[in-house]
Amino acid sequence: MNMILAVDKNWAIGCDGGLLVHLPGDLKFFKEQTSGKTVIMGRTTMESLPGKKPLPNRENIVMTRQEDFEKDGFKVLKSKEAVLDYVKDIAEDQVFIIGGEQIYKSFLSDADTIYLTKIDAEFKADRYFVNLDEMPEFKVTWESRLQDENGIAYKFYKYERV
Ligand SMILES: NC(=O)c1ccc[n+]([C@@H]2O[C@H](COP(=O)([O-])OP(=O)(O)OC[C@H]3O[C@@H](n4cnc5c(N)ncnc54)[C@H](OP(=O)(O)O)[C@@H]3O)[C@@H](O)[C@H]2O)c1
Repeated sequence: MNMILAVDKNWAIGCDGGLLVHLPGDLKFFKEQTSGKTVIMGRTTMESLPGKKPLPNRENIVMTRQEDFEKDGFKVLKSKEAVLDYVKDIAEDQVFIIGGEQIYKSFLSDADTIYLTKIDAEFKADRYFVNLDEMPEFKVTWESRLQDENGIAYKFYKYERV
């Protein structure tokens, strides 16, 4: 399966329940990669979506351990095992883990491709990803040109399991 996320120079991904910074070009890249696919997120990340609504044109799965949790437009699954069972009949390249910290950590061992936006800045943060560049099992197989938005530089990278 795939993962997609944005990190800063410290591999931070979030703060106070939200993203670190608003980068329209990164949101556009996220939309392009995930449209028409199945996206899997934790309950906290779901709460951070605009209006707490499902992402359009995607099958939205939210993970929670809460009994009787229901949310319009979301398939609710209660464990990693339930997710793996649910996606087993979907082509692996059609499935994206979209965060946050807990869900990325749980599924890192299942991810073969990671779309990573590296933001060349440091932000106040309370949620982090692992340093992929210290993991020999992942290698960069593609990188974009340098992007620049309102003075913030960033690049898209594709990491694949070797
Ligand atoms: N930079 C990026 O690309 C990016 C992307 C996405 C999110 N984020 C950021 O990441 C932060 C949120 O991360 P987070 O770690 O706090 O929360 P999270 O991973 O989004 O969600 C955690 C919740 O998911 C549920 N959960 C976790 N593991 C589970 C399991 N094995 N089975 C069933 N349910 C499970 C639990 O929900 P219950 O408590 O309901 O049981 C848990 O509280 C936010 O700041 C967000 O903006 C950043």
